[in-house]
Amino acid sequence: MKKVMILTSGGDASGMNAYIKAFAKLCKKNDIELVASMYGYQGLIENSIKPLSYEGMGEIQNLGGTIIKTSRSNEFLTEEGFNKALQNVQAQNIDCLVVVGGNGSFRGAKDLYDAGVNVLAIPATIDNDLAYTDKTLGYDTACQNAINVIVKIKQTMESCDRGTVVEVMGRHCSDIAVRSAILCDADILITENETFEHILKKVNDAIDAKKKNPLIVVQENILNVSELSRYLQEKTGKEFRATVIGYLQRGGEPTANDKLLAIKLAVKTMEFVIKNVYGKAIGVTNDEVCAVDLDEGVAPKSSSNKLLNIYKNF
Ligand code: F6P
Repeated sequence: MKKVMILTSGGDASGMNAYIKAFAKLCKKNDIELVASMYGYQGLIENSIKPLSYEGMGEIQNLGGTIIKTSRSNEFLTEEGFNKALQNVQAQNIDCLVVVGGNGSFRGAKDLYDAGVNVLAIPATIDNDLAYTDKTLGYDTACQNAINVIVKIKQTMESCDRGTVVEVMGRHCSDIAVRSAILCDADILITENETFEHILKKVNDAIDAKKKNPLIVVQENILNVSELSRYLQEKTGKEFRATVIGYLQRGGEPTANDKLLAIKLAVKTMEFVIKNVYGKAIGVTNDEVCAVDLDEGVAPKSSSNKLLNIYKNF
């Protein structure tokens, strides 16, 4: 009987639970033992390994977060922590370790693979910041969550003729910001450093074009949205308000797209486990499931050009 270990690592993403359930179902179907490392790589270090079975999972595909917990393990980044994790995972005699996470988690997966562990990596991060795949689990849900909030903000701002500055997550990738800006019909999108004076010029252009409540969407880690909002209010004489959407984006029921993506990724993972194909990152390009070597899989992405082009041409 084959034995597979799964872990979720880094920031949680809606769709992780849907993937866990889909993969557990396939393990049961194919008579494969499934165990989980709790809290990601930290669970490997602490030998916190639990059996995971499809029975009793209930309707977790509808839940955000991850039932097997996650963490950003700093200890795993040390030589001592990594070696402990490696020793513990080797002692489990598994056929494969399935790592579900984002960019940082994939680097850990590659290090374990290079050290001799059979690894498969599954993209799950709201940031959509992996270059080899068009989509990561949680990204679609995070966008939908951000859009739902911005729609509400727009209604109140429109009623009061106020301008608004909204910050969305994404770490160093602009995809959530660009998609939200397109779908919420933003007037200004900020995804890289710009002076306040430069932004003011764009806002004045929007006001001159009879926009009573300019909407500015800002990618996180670029500027302080409260400071920008105060500056714009002072310079334009129009009221501005700032909102950082933050963790409202990360949880909640996954969208149908994320649930389906979870199942597609799980099916491909199982195909690889059965065929003993390892050292791959699984993803999707042009709606087709794809797989690349982990070396390629770890490459980060700061923006999707396809999305940026839609924004520019709209
Ligand atoms: O990587 C997902 C993410 O939500 C980023 O968008 C954000 O920058 C970061 O995690 C926040 O991380 P944490 O919750 O660990 O502070």
